[in-house]
Amino acid sequence: MNLPDLSAMEQFGARIAGHLKAGDVIALSGGLGTGKTTLARAILRALGHEGEVPSPTFTIIESYDHLDPPVVHADFYRLEDPSEVEQLGLDDYRDGAVLIAEWPDHAGGFAVEPGCLQITLEIAGNGRKAIVEGGKDWLERLP
Ligand SMILES: Nc1ncnc2c1ncn2[C@@H]1O[C@H](COP(=O)(O)OP(=O)(O)O)[C@@H](O)[C@H]1O
Ligand SMILES: [Mg+2]
Repeated sequence: MNLPDLSAMEQFGARIAGHLKAGDVIALSGGLGTGKTTLARAILRALGHEGEVPSPTFTIIESYDHLDPPVVHADFYRLEDPSEVEQLGLDDYRDGAVLIAEWPDHAGGFAVEPGCLQITLEIAGNGRKAIVEGGKDWLERLP
């Protein structure tokens, strides 16, 4: 899928936001600067979040409990081992919420979960390209 500019990111984020339910994971892969946080912000804004969306690079986890569904935005880049996810208490944060995960592979990956939508972003000219893969659950929701 081509995402030539920021408005394409906003639209894609809004499309995802319209289908989210608690327990889902939006796994955002791709190198530094490929647009993972941009897409996370677009999803959060489409869900009605009006404040800032700090990049969770240093805090690792940011929670948006006031949204419906609530969202946990995580950036696992700094994890050195997937086992550190437990120490973060991720399961408690995720309870009843959607997880938007940057660098999901650093947390062991979430692809085995049926509610996981995997999006891999890459640079394409001045814009971005996305490879989107989802379980059966997502294929029905995002045809
Ligand atoms: N589809 C796009 N087209 C052009 N620029 C984009 C697009 N998506 C994101 N960007 C820009 O890329 C830069 C890095 O984005 P960011 O979301 O911080 O990347 P990441 O979280 O993957 O490191 C930002 O300046 C952002 O505005
Ligand atoms: Mg980022």
